[in-house]
Amino acid sequence: MKRMLFAAGTAIALLSAGVAEAEITASGTIDTHAAGVRIAPEIYGQFSEELGHGIDGGIWVGPNSPIPNVEGYRKDVLDALKELHVPVIRWPGGCYADTYHWRNGIGPRDKRPVTINYSWGGVEQHNQFGTAEFFNFAELIGAKTYLSINIGSGTPAEARDWIEYISSPSHSTLADERRANGRDKPWTVDYVGLGNEMWGCGGNQTAEEAAALERRFATFVHIGPKLIAAGASDRQYHWTEVLMQPDGHPPYDGVSVHYYTLPTGNWDHKGSAIGFPESEWASTLARTRALEDMIEQHSAIMDKADPQKKMFLAVDEWGTWYDPAPGSNPAFLVQENTLRDAIVAATNFHIFQRHADRVRFAAIAQTVNVLQAMIETDGPKMALTPTYYAFLMYRPFQGATALPVTVTTPDYTLGTDKVPAVDVTAARGTDGAIYVGLINSDPHQNADVALGLDGTKAGAVSGQLLTGAAMDSRNDFGKPEGVHPVPFTGARWSGGKLQVHMPSKSVVVLKLQ
Ligand code: AHR
Repeated sequence: MKRMLFAAGTAIALLSAGVAEAEITASGTIDTHAAGVRIAPEIYGQFSEELGHGIDGGIWVGPNSPIPNVEGYRKDVLDALKELHVPVIRWPGGCYADTYHWRNGIGPRDKRPVTINYSWGGVEQHNQFGTAEFFNFAELIGAKTYLSINIGSGTPAEARDWIEYISSPSHSTLADERRANGRDKPWTVDYVGLGNEMWGCGGNQTAEEAAALERRFATFVHIGPKLIAAGASDRQYHWTEVLMQPDGHPPYDGVSVHYYTLPTGNWDHKGSAIGFPESEWASTLARTRALEDMIEQHSAIMDKADPQKKMFLAVDEWGTWYDPAPGSNPAFLVQENTLRDAIVAATNFHIFQRHADRVRFAAIAQTVNVLQAMIETDGPKMALTPTYYAFLMYRPFQGATALPVTVTTPDYTLGTDKVPAVDVTAARGTDGAIYVGLINSDPHQNADVALGLDGTKAGAVSGQLLTGAAMDSRNDFGKPEGVHPVPFTGARWSGGKLQVHMPSKSVVVLKLQ
């Protein structure tokens, strides 16, 4: 097999079966003296919808379950999420949010109504995970809360009452109803989502119709939490233009955009999660990378109305979306998670951090058992996915100060798909250390990366490496993990530069002290 790398000043590398692996050489500079922009921890947020086994069986099993649990929450999942330092979690949807009526999920669990989940498979929803279960869950894992309110089929009064029930310290009838249901102290609602995908499942609206509705709801729920207006999908720039009116002063704090990575770009045949050809490795990474341009375009529109960047762009649904796992209910959005997903996750982190001035919120879809999940469960069994480990490795970037990075790298090219082979992000952590994240997207070639750190003195370097034997290496129930972080010893100072030797298809996070 012959593959070519195209870049000015870079050797053309040929890789042939049976011949030793070629090397990519890349170089870069990290401006360690720049003032930098704070990386909002919330860009490492999560999304958990009432969908399939995302919550039922995945997070919540009930206090009487034989699966070890803490007041009904799976203990294994709780422990894994605590370790991840989840900054914020979004619930109850997604599409489901615009059909959800909060009164179905309060009070004694054995008295709650059984409803139909019209968004996801028409299955019965027993409403065992409701308001108390969500807010207590967020408290247990130490996450801020993002509540998506129903504006598609609900009313402003219903939404305002829900927020009063949850968060009022008063003795209003609603606040006292919360007390009667077992919670004296108000919970905190940190973010409120004004609907979801208003161009589709949120009501099939035009941007103008949605903006009017969102402004109306904002008027009645603007009582503390930051408000995020449901906005565009990928390149629907008109939505951002309309939602930013009147010029930079709409009654919400952020505008959302959703973007899913499909290997083929075709919703009818998205591509397989495992056993995929290299062409779909390349197309997946190229399609993920396309989000950077979309963020720049949406940000440019926001800049015109809000040059001081008071408002933020919330990428509150992102991740891979593949054909459903064979044998699963297609409405449950079950898919395997591989090394490719970890590289996609890291690519998104780098993109968000490069745009940390405007992207101050993001949420991957979804936390457990749905789409690009952190965690998979099967009855009592649990597996941590490669995506989980990518989030774990990038934890030090939460709240860190982004440092400008320039990189010269060849592209990894296959057919018409092309991405920079090496990508680098850097930040000064809250502990004062410099953290560097590196991705080698090439599935065949190692990479030698030389980084200048602008006069920073050579000091101790430690790091972690995430890679696997194959493009679709993964972590299956009850088997040894195919992808998990290991100590990285391939970085050293030489000639005043940090020399990093990375394996093919890998992610490295370094700590420089
Ligand atoms: O994450 C799954 C679904 O994808 C969400 O419910 C919806 O907002 C999006 O279309």
